Amino acid sequence: MMARPRYLVMVAAGSGHRMGGGLPKQFLLLGGRVILLRSIDVFRRAVPGIKVVTVLAPEWKEHWRDLCMQHRFFYPQSMADGGLTRFHSVQNALAQIPDEALVAIHDGVRPLLSEELVRDLFQRAETADGVIPCLPVVDTLRCLQMADGVGRFGGKDLPARSELYAVQTPQLFDAALLKAAYTLPFEPDFTDDASVVERYIWQQGLPQKIEYVPGERHNIKLTTPEDLLLAEAILKTR
Ligand code: C5P
Repeated sequence: MMARPRYLVMVAAGSGHRMGGGLPKQFLLLGGRVILLRSIDVFRRAVPGIKVVTVLAPEWKEHWRDLCMQHRFFYPQSMADGGLTRFHSVQNALAQIPDEALVAIHDGVRPLLSEELVRDLFQRAETADGVIPCLPVVDTLRCLQMADGVGRFGGKDLPARSELYAVQTPQLFDAALLKAAYTLPFEPDFTDDASVVERYIWQQGLPQKIEYVPGERHNIKLTTPEDLLLAEAILKTR
């Protein structure tokens, strides 16, 4: 049997307002290399020949092209336009993915994952409909309603902490299933791809073949300036 084509959808169309400053965080330097380039590097080293679709807000495409030239990054990639939310950005990219592919969707601002994790996830995806890295939650979580910076109990209990997991990317899927799931109308709680696919599976009454497997503590989503300091420190240990 022919190996299935492997695709990476790198979502990087967020504005990054939580980082402060004008430049979206995926374009900042980490250890002297652009964060988004680092994220793509991990995949192209882990899966030689992987096809890359980079999703960017149209107004940042020129800047990305300049960065690629500056850093002599000539790996082939196609581009898709970012949308209003992450859901819409992924939806735009999926038009370029063939149904028979295995596709990984990754947040451009998670550059610290290992090549081993990527290889392991692609291997597992051969026999599942989806593979999602996650970690047990270490914080205690509370559902609150905030007013003027002060929170009060929101009246909703969460499951016990022992049942809660923080979900990461990359999330890998059978492309045909993923594309079918992304025909659902947008909902605000679609903040990752697994939530879209699971809603679709549930609505269609399909068998549940999405697997959650161990992610990596280092695979943080660089969201605030503190995260960048932490990421620099992690890099120094390598
Ligand atoms: O902030 P959020 O968790 O949604 O960001 C996760 C990833 O989704 C980031 O890499 C960000 O660039 C991307 N994103 C996007 N299009 C949007 C919003 C976020 O590609 N409209």
